Amino acid sequence: MTEQNELFAPSREITEKALIKDYDTLYRRSIEEREAFWAEEAGKLGWYKKWDRVLDSSQKPFYKWFTGGKINIVHNAIDRHVATWRRNKLALIWEGEPGESRTYSYHALNREVCKFANILKSMGVKKGEIVTIYMPQIPELPIAMLACAKLGAAHSVVFGGFSVDALSARIRDANSRVVITADGGFRRGKVVDLKGTVNEALKDAPTVEVCIVIRRTGHAVTMESDRDFWFHELMGLPIATSKCETEVMDAEDPLFILYTSGTTGSPKGLVHTHGGYAVYTSSTMRNVFDLREEDRYWCTADPGWITGHSYLVYGPLINGATLVMYEGAPNHPYPNRWWQMVEKYGVSILYTSPTAIRGLMRFGEQWPRRHDLSCLRLLGSVGEPINPEAWRWYHRVIGGGRCPIMDTWWQTETGGFVITPLPITPLKPGSATKPYFGHEPAIVDDDGNELAPGQEGHLVLKAPWPGMARTILGDPERFRKTYWSAYEKQGWYKAGDSGRKDKDGYFWIIGRTDDVIKVSGHRLGTAEIESALVSHQDVAEAAVIGVPHEVKGQAIHCFVILKHRKVGSRELEEELKAHVSRQVGALARPEKIDFMDALPKTRSGKIMRRVLKARALGQDVGDISTLEE
Ligand code: PRX
Repeated sequence: MTEQNELFAPSREITEKALIKDYDTLYRRSIEEREAFWAEEAGKLGWYKKWDRVLDSSQKPFYKWFTGGKINIVHNAIDRHVATWRRNKLALIWEGEPGESRTYSYHALNREVCKFANILKSMGVKKGEIVTIYMPQIPELPIAMLACAKLGAAHSVVFGGFSVDALSARIRDANSRVVITADGGFRRGKVVDLKGTVNEALKDAPTVEVCIVIRRTGHAVTMESDRDFWFHELMGLPIATSKCETEVMDAEDPLFILYTSGTTGSPKGLVHTHGGYAVYTSSTMRNVFDLREEDRYWCTADPGWITGHSYLVYGPLINGATLVMYEGAPNHPYPNRWWQMVEKYGVSILYTSPTAIRGLMRFGEQWPRRHDLSCLRLLGSVGEPINPEAWRWYHRVIGGGRCPIMDTWWQTETGGFVITPLPITPLKPGSATKPYFGHEPAIVDDDGNELAPGQEGHLVLKAPWPGMARTILGDPERFRKTYWSAYEKQGWYKAGDSGRKDKDGYFWIIGRTDDVIKVSGHRLGTAEIESALVSHQDVAEAAVIGVPHEVKGQAIHCFVILKHRKVGSRELEEELKAHVSRQVGALARPEKIDFMDALPKTRSGKIMRRVLKARALGQDVGDISTLEE
């Protein structure tokens, strides 16, 4: 991405009303007095007991925040609101793909969460255990997350697009005893059979004793007696009362595990906490989206990803916002579905991904033009770099030229926004602009030397922040090695992204430097796809790379060596694509498979993906002196 000279200054209307009117002064303070800044942000939440220390760095890189503090994120997301006038404010407006809608006030949300928490309690769910959730985008998904958190159990939400194997591996890693799912969900007019996937996955997940099933689609599913229970039947039992105490947690107690892909091996379960995460998501949400009481906020992400956790569920609810949630595809039944919803519910803040924008852009301006989108005042983007063309379309056609775009750079690991504009920030299309308060990102070379403006290098974060993941479940050494070993001497976090900083201090994120690829904003590891390929009987070896794709950002391109002198064919290509979809999930379906006689390797046997990539893109392969043959 080239640097743009284009600058979009915020309008007077925005700067005059913005919550934060002077970024530079507050930013400077947040660096000079970091702990005081975060203590002030934490003070805006409800604590059962105030913390003794803001930051404990004694066991770097295993930082601790707000130690000694007692809190529960649900106390902040629900309990505090139902004690005020917000009790009758709408917390959630939900629309299903077939068109029905449901609304929940904070009172109703509290009632449902309490009822479900009482059910979970009666099933023996306790503080410290991990409950796996595998659901479509229906209100019961955030309700299930909140019910677990209320009891002090950590949730592990697995995105509904993941396959049998991916799900069972995550259940096993978390040692879950309880799984919450639904009979299915709707996507592009079809039923996604989630219960069928769960039934298969549980054959390989011996720890599971209880499976709670929400009836969403009504299609026939197989229920196993003694293990499977219908949610609506449980919620009708006398024990499902609408009062349930919120468990008092230590600030550092785990709130959730979220699995994400890395360079090698199996997905890692990142651990986030009740205290620091609540402080961080609520602070970033309020300041970046300039949240007002009257806003209608819509984050299009699925709660199966970090964006859904932080900015569909927790960040907005802690701030007492009204959020909008939608079950299905953006272009079903017509490409105006989203714009229709913005108009219908009066959405004022829309947070989505570049891939969705590019996808909807393809259908043409006539679709959004049919709708009155004047209710929008702020837009957001996340998941991958937004190309300036999509940025300008989003700004002009959706935002009517008046809504600033918050291009937020962050990761599952960071818990919330790290590099992001505020509404008052002059914007450059394609740049995530400047650090959020308390952060010191930098672009450095392999040795940690800061690079001159315009030079590409590694993105590092020099200072800890409350929303950071604390560890990888069951593997603290992997946590240390993955993120903190490259700049161990300096104590910096290596993000795994490359980027540039321009002369105005704006950051331009280029992309991953490791073997992570982003397909439609979804994070996948090439290793997962490669191991799915070699699990096929005809495949001897496989290498996977990400190649640029007009809508998806990146697409999956595979190189495969076959066994038994088998010859590649179109049929086999289709079969392998279907095989990967089955093994990992439809989101990992390869775009292209090339059959090869050999793969470029170093003398030590490592596949040189860089060479494959250059070849696929028709570029110069560069230095290949380490190539074996
Ligand atoms: O490469 C960056 C890209 O997404 C990665 C993190 O992926 P994940 O953990 O799935 O979290 C996505 C949602 C926060 C990053 O390492 N990325 C995310 N947001 C942006 C981005 N790249 C450029 N610009 C962004 N705004």
